Amino acid sequence: MCGIIGYVGDRKVTEVLIKGLKRLEYRGYDSSGIAVFTNDRIEVTKAAGKIAEMETRVAGFDMAGTHGGIGHTRWATHGAPNTTNAHPHRVGDIVLVHNGIIENFREIQEEVFRRGFKPQSETDSEMFAFLVHFEMERGTEFVEAVRKSFLKVQGASSIVVMHEKFPGLIVGVRNGSPLVVGCDGELGGVAMASDVQPLLDYTDRVAFLENGDMAICTAKGIEFLDAASGRRIERPFAKIEWSADRLDKNGYPHYMLKEIHEQSRTIIDTLAAAIGPSSGSLPFEMVNEDGIRAIIDADRVSMVACGTSWHASLLGKYWFERFAGISTDSELASEFRYRSPVLSKRHLVMGVSQSGETADTLAVLQQMKERGVETMAVTNVKGSSIARVVDYPYFMCCGPEIGVASTKAFTGQMLMLYIMANRLQRGAAMSDPTGALMDALVKRHRQTYELPHHLSRVLDDGGATMCALEKAVQDVQHSKGFFFMGRGYSWPLALEGALKLKEIAYVHAEGYAAGELKHGPIAMLEPAITVVVVAPRDQWYEKTISNLQEVKARGARIVALGHAGDEKLAAMADHFVPLPLAEEQLDESLLPFLIAPVLQLFAYRIAVLKGTDVDQPRNLAKSVTVE
Ligand code: F6R
Repeated sequence: MCGIIGYVGDRKVTEVLIKGLKRLEYRGYDSSGIAVFTNDRIEVTKAAGKIAEMETRVAGFDMAGTHGGIGHTRWATHGAPNTTNAHPHRVGDIVLVHNGIIENFREIQEEVFRRGFKPQSETDSEMFAFLVHFEMERGTEFVEAVRKSFLKVQGASSIVVMHEKFPGLIVGVRNGSPLVVGCDGELGGVAMASDVQPLLDYTDRVAFLENGDMAICTAKGIEFLDAASGRRIERPFAKIEWSADRLDKNGYPHYMLKEIHEQSRTIIDTLAAAIGPSSGSLPFEMVNEDGIRAIIDADRVSMVACGTSWHASLLGKYWFERFAGISTDSELASEFRYRSPVLSKRHLVMGVSQSGETADTLAVLQQMKERGVETMAVTNVKGSSIARVVDYPYFMCCGPEIGVASTKAFTGQMLMLYIMANRLQRGAAMSDPTGALMDALVKRHRQTYELPHHLSRVLDDGGATMCALEKAVQDVQHSKGFFFMGRGYSWPLALEGALKLKEIAYVHAEGYAAGELKHGPIAMLEPAITVVVVAPRDQWYEKTISNLQEVKARGARIVALGHAGDEKLAAMADHFVPLPLAEEQLDESLLPFLIAPVLQLFAYRIAVLKGTDVDQPRNLAKSVTVE
């Protein structure tokens, strides 16, 4: 969950480290620190709070004679988020940063106390520095000491270590948490980080460390070692298609707003990546048909995911069942991994994960591989742990998502699952040849793109949807609590609308299947509560309207989202937010792609009015690599 950066070379070291950490801040932001090789020593600077706090402490730092360093942005697991617990940690000459968890840290700590040392922090990370220190006391050379220490720790971790007597040398080890390295194409030197984003300023060619790998980095280059044997190994360098300019806000006040508005484009990009440039015609094939064949051979699919990705997978379940006629479950990875799931003979397990690093989702996929079950993933990050562990990785094409609250990656996941479901079209449920649906998605594929065209109209600032949304938000922003409700496709959307509001506006919100409200939560309804109902004119519409009557009778405020011109719905609502299209213009199965961004903006606007930190909400981190 933390972000790591390391650099050796001739650039201004503190600038490289701080810029890199800012690119990684989405991974954790409760404290940060850097350690820099100066002429004959290592200078450590740390601070609680955002990176900006630490940055003020290094302002004016004398950069002459610096030639490398490491940095860290933290999401606390062991010990409070204060300056002492912030990384880098130092024991003697050893200085390190760590991402992940050292599960056997208590045993190491006992040895540390036994030997009469007193750790400075409450972290598990500092224990690794002691291990290396003890190894070197026994006469082991530095790199070998890191290697031997690495073999002693349990749990998923990445650690980058430097030694005061070896300026210009940094050693990275990976077991679980990601670590990626690249050579500076312009000035020489080497950079290493928890993901590719900090490296994009210097290179588009990177190597991903495998679990059990070590990378020995100097300004001259990188040497890879297999930690278990200590032998030299080769690791391939891959070209990264993301460019550094996609990491900027491009004039938007927040990444989240930029990313919401990018969705018309990311839908086109994901569509093009999934079905290829030649697929304007139907029926279509996907660019990668291997996974499709595996699903066709399967008798059951279990999708596993967490948070927003789980909501996308719930929609995937609806589409897989309706279009592909295949028995599909959508499971929370954190539950699935500790249950005793009964697997069918030809079961296929699919992970859905934006980052490709989420610990619970990864663990399920690893377990399934061990049991010989076929695995697949839908993710946004090439080279991620999940992408590398599964048999069939599928990539959305959303570009980096920096806002901690997932937006464009959510619709990207939905789209990939939608395309797969339509490609599969094998079930008896297929009364409508899915050709018609794909036609609605890709119609005039080369010119206007049907779905993104509608989405642009939804997101148009002066348009009917946004104007109505803004009025609603202004009116309900101080509500005591929110319920989001919907049926069918709108149920996962209701869950997602509530999650977005909770995570960025810190307001209590719950998502409910509209039919469930009367089984308990209806007791909470009163005028200070707002109910956001997602009620497009789809097959569930009349049922949703009946449920809405029950809500209205209890006096809650109602914000309703539905098709433009729906007077019945508008009459029941305090605020009616219209989707600017007629019912017959788009199949109901595609409406989630228009509704999700409206709910994202609902949460975004309330958060902005409340003045919260939209891009980096408290207590969260984007890449949840602990369970
Ligand atoms: C919420 C959000 C999280 C993630 C969840 C899984 O906006 O982003 O709920 O969806 O932590 O993350 P990934 O998709 O990376 O597996």
